[in-house]
Amino acid sequence: MIKLGIIGTGWISDQFIEACAKTGMYQLTTVYSRTLQKAEEFGKKYLADGEYFDDLEKFFAEGSFDTVYIASPNSLHFAQSVMAINAGKNVIVEKPACANLKEENQLLDLLSKRNDVYYFEAARHVHEKNFEIVKQEVAKLDHFQGATLTYQKYSSRYDAFLEGKDPNVFSPRFAGGALQDLGIYLVYCAVSWFGMPDDAKYFPVKLRNGIDGSGIAVLKYGNENVVLKVGKTSNSYLPGEIYGLKETLLLCGNAADLNQVFLVDAKGSKKLLSNTPDENPMFAEALDFARILEEDSLEGKMTEQAWLDLSAKVNQVMELLKKSADITYD
Ligand SMILES: NC(=O)c1ccc[n+]([C@@H]2O[C@H](COP(=O)([O-])OP(=O)(O)OC[C@H]3O[C@@H](n4cnc5c(N)ncnc54)[C@H](OP(=O)(O)O)[C@@H]3O)[C@@H](O)[C@H]2O)c1
Repeated sequence: MIKLGIIGTGWISDQFIEACAKTGMYQLTTVYSRTLQKAEEFGKKYLADGEYFDDLEKFFAEGSFDTVYIASPNSLHFAQSVMAINAGKNVIVEKPACANLKEENQLLDLLSKRNDVYYFEAARHVHEKNFEIVKQEVAKLDHFQGATLTYQKYSSRYDAFLEGKDPNVFSPRFAGGALQDLGIYLVYCAVSWFGMPDDAKYFPVKLRNGIDGSGIAVLKYGNENVVLKVGKTSNSYLPGEIYGLKETLLLCGNAADLNQVFLVDAKGSKKLLSNTPDENPMFAEALDFARILEEDSLEGKMTEQAWLDLSAKVNQVMELLKKSADITYD
């Protein structure tokens, strides 16, 4: 059984714990929150007898867990991951794991010296079957003529922003914004399915504090364009499309929640390629990570490395996009 510690008591931690429970391979033992009361309130939903901390150093030094799930605001991921690795804990950290390339390079350097811990960026959609199906179908296309991918969803925090407040996900202090929060899913899709782009530019719609509320990114692949449409201030129901010559791959649902994938032929006939996704979108990643942690094999280390390489490439593209739009965080 993997003993799990948690940082962050938001809804996403609940969803992750439910996914972990479904695998039958994790046991929540320890919760960190900025207040003990919140840690206990959160833990008691799942634990008869848990360990609760409001001090991060004590959490890592005294907590009996071997793996930590980090679901704090983006700008804290790097420092908390470093603390965890130095304490000999395996890390599952929410996306984006790093706010910039400097953090990523320091992290990779630290990990190269710590073969005793596993480190995973929780890019949940990459682990789902339908994501792999799209990858295989793209590889079969005779021609590739670009794609349009969308993830645009009105944020439950945008009301507060409109009222003049400063929620973390819309704040440069916490490395928020549409690109960081939702765009990273689409960049994962593009890099996994089409490879590294030759160039990348982002055209954001900036909000009053300089954060991007929405935007369009264009990734150049030779002469072709891959267009990524992201946003947290309105809802889009556009499906994604990947263009061959006469065939099109049609992705229903946003590109991070692939509900149905069709191959549409020259005559417009649709063939369903996808499976029904799991009810909990974090189940596939929780299972993948657990298998690697439990087996602790050379093969698992190689898979971890492949995910790390992918994460580093995604971060490189994210950096290009942010630079092109002059997006910086406090
Ligand atoms: N994979 C997915 O589908 C998915 C979905 C949503 C979010 N996420 C990721 O999950 C992470 C958390 O997102 P979220 O929307 O839950 O963030 P959030 O609500 O802003 O913060 C998450 C938790 O971090 C703690 N926290 C809040 N403000 C803090 C501060 N100023 N300093 C230190 N800790 C603070 C809080 O826990 P305590 O009060 O207990 O300390 C809070 O519950 C992000 O990285 C996001 O990208 C992933």
